[in-house]
Amino acid sequence: MNPIRNALRLAAMYAIAAATTAHAFSAHAGDHAYRLDNAAYRQECGSCHVAYPPQLLPAPSWRAVMGGLGAHFGVDASLEPAVQREIAAWLEANAGRRDAAAAGKSLLRVSSTPWFRKEHRREIASDKALHPEVKSLANCGACHQGAEQGNYSERGVRVPGGRTR
Ligand code: HEC
Ligand code: HEC
Repeated sequence: MNPIRNALRLAAMYAIAAATTAHAFSAHAGDHAYRLDNAAYRQECGSCHVAYPPQLLPAPSWRAVMGGLGAHFGVDASLEPAVQREIAAWLEANAGRRDAAAAGKSLLRVSSTPWFRKEHRREIASDKALHPEVKSLANCGACHQGAEQGNYSERGVRVPGGRTR
């Protein structure tokens, strides 16, 4: 066979393989499994609460969170400057695109964003967040069994006190 045709065919095969992989990954993301592939982030930002997926807030929100670690929701979460820069850069590079601002200010909480309020309207309306096992909507792992690994797929949801439908 013509070696050029052969090479083209091989290239086409790789293109298809790459497209299939990309598709498999986006299907995965559509299932709400997020990559938390930064060790410093998981260690430093996953000790008091789950390491929230960077995709769930836009870059301006992450910038605001990372710029205020000294007074972080009532606690001091400040970091060494080099570690802070590394984590901030990774969060912004992997940030989501959904808007998260109110009255011109970036929201600091995933749990305050419009998409989150909509997705969790039943839990919010029924005060599920106040259940003693949940305590706060920021406590994602109370209901999302895979939250530690960044997995928020529907299969892993178990709401303490039962789901309200
Ligand atoms: C010393 C403990 C501590 C550390 C370390 C910490 N946080 Fe927090 N964080 C908190 C507390 C407390 C809250 C508020 C939780 C609540 O409302 O129930 C919070 C809330 C948040 C929220 C809002 C959650 C929501 O959607 O309501 C984000 C985002 C967040 N932290 C990001 C980070 C990032 C990024 C880091 C690492 C740089 C970090 N945190 C490290 C204690 C910490
Ligand atoms: C009180 C329980 C509870 C808490 C706390 C909670 N969730 Fe949820 N979450 C749910 C339920 C219930 C659903 C809806 C699942 C469904 O029917 O698709 C949901 C849906 C989601 C979805 C969409 C999943 C899908 O398949 O459509 C995401 C993403 C999500 N939650 C992220 C979070 C994050 C991030 C946090 C923490 C900041 C959090 N949740 C806290 C109960 C909770």
